[in-house]
Amino acid sequence: MRVGVVGTGYVGLVVGACLAETGNDVVCADVDARKVDGLKRNQLPIYEPGLQPLVERNQTGGRLSFTTDVAGAVEQSDIIFIAVGTPPDEDGSADLQHVLAVARTIGQHMNRSKIVITKSTVPVGTAEKVRGEIQKHTQAPFHVCSNPEFLKEGAAVDDFMKPDRVVVGVDADETARALEELYAPFVRTGNPLIFMDIPSAEMTKYAANAMLATRISFMNQVARLCEAVGADVSLVRKGIGSDRRIGPAFLFPGPGYGGSCFPKDVKALIKTGDDRGVSLDVLKAVEAANDRQKLILFDKLTRHFPDGLKGKTVAIWGLAFKAETDDVRESPALVLAEALLEAGVKVQVHDPEAMETAKMQLGNRVTYAPNAYAALEGATALAIVTEWREYRNPDFTKMKGLMRQALIVDGRNLYEPSRLADLGFTYDSLGRRLACASS
Ligand SMILES: NC(=O)c1ccc[n+]([C@@H]2O[C@H](COP(=O)([O-])OP(=O)(O)OC[C@H]3O[C@@H](n4cnc5c(N)ncnc54)[C@H](O)[C@@H]3O)[C@@H](O)[C@H]2O)c1
Repeated sequence: MRVGVVGTGYVGLVVGACLAETGNDVVCADVDARKVDGLKRNQLPIYEPGLQPLVERNQTGGRLSFTTDVAGAVEQSDIIFIAVGTPPDEDGSADLQHVLAVARTIGQHMNRSKIVITKSTVPVGTAEKVRGEIQKHTQAPFHVCSNPEFLKEGAAVDDFMKPDRVVVGVDADETARALEELYAPFVRTGNPLIFMDIPSAEMTKYAANAMLATRISFMNQVARLCEAVGADVSLVRKGIGSDRRIGPAFLFPGPGYGGSCFPKDVKALIKTGDDRGVSLDVLKAVEAANDRQKLILFDKLTRHFPDGLKGKTVAIWGLAFKAETDDVRESPALVLAEALLEAGVKVQVHDPEAMETAKMQLGNRVTYAPNAYAALEGATALAIVTEWREYRNPDFTKMKGLMRQALIVDGRNLYEPSRLADLGFTYDSLGRRLACASS
């Protein structure tokens, strides 16, 4: 099939590369000329495991190309994915200007019948707005459908290649058949391709992200209570996760959810609810709990230094909002770094992939360490924010030798508290007892 993907960010690039991998003829279009230039030379603008070889192989094989000519991409495609960003507007609602700008271009270049797919996360009613915008500019027949994306950054290629499910909202049988054909290679093992009406598909994406954000905030609050009452959240997690009605996923406490999706999608759903007279009280609490959670490591550090943090040096391990990505959008690490800087702390940071992206916000106000150990030199404390694999089993003796004070506040519960105490650390993690150096 001839497929056009408009927007080559985390979603569009993965969608384009994966659809090319299954033999489609894919053109990816983006207004960002630097990004497109790099992609033409197989230079990826993002870090995403497994994506580089996919882009290289399919571009070399002639099935994948990149362009800034959105109109040309529209003209040469039968199926067009809109995968541009939908950032939050000032009032929290999803800003649809990019989606509707693409719809306008599609309408203006509708040279034959096409299927237009909204892949971006968009509120209920957006597919109809897209249809309206296209109709303003063309008499040609076309279909619009909603196909929200559920991939996770850090595992995006795997998620797209082997999805738990594919959700498609359609307005015609003909569209359903075309999408069935397009997705057939990805659902061969029996995971469902679920067809539904368009508003339900649009709603499904928000409901899924809102549910996941709710689980995270719930467990973060349970962890706080565990600390207060002397329970261990790791045991509580196992205890509840083995209940089939609950399940084990997404029950790890952490420093708050971030990234480009959960924060904005929760906000947008709350706004939709308010607009329709349905106050989503649970989600309002989820959001408030998450804002508080992003400061949990700062609060812990403050408690360890009752005389104040001013003049101290704190190392931060991890800047990305989660492991296996270089995405720092809404990352709790940036909130922590800003709070520490505000308190007069010298901040030394390390991340295996996200230093460049973090630099855009933090600039030269922090020190970027070339490796994890270098960040610890002279530090009075280490704060762990991202669960990168290389932080899981470090050389603790070396760490102690580098740090001025052996204090670790851990937002990911990477280590065993009793072991850290035996090694001479004060170790403060989430929802577990404070471990103090035993000698
Ligand atoms: N990132 C994720 O993990 C993820 C997962 C599922 C769904 N989504 C949703 O997918 C959408 C895209 O997210 P993303 O993370 O890929 O965004 P992104 O910011 O990484 O990429 C968006 C791209 O669209 C391009 N763009 C903007 N306006 C354009 C236009 N008029 N024409 C052509 N290109 C244009 C930008 O230059 C950018 O490259 C959002 O709605 C997001 O909520 C994201």
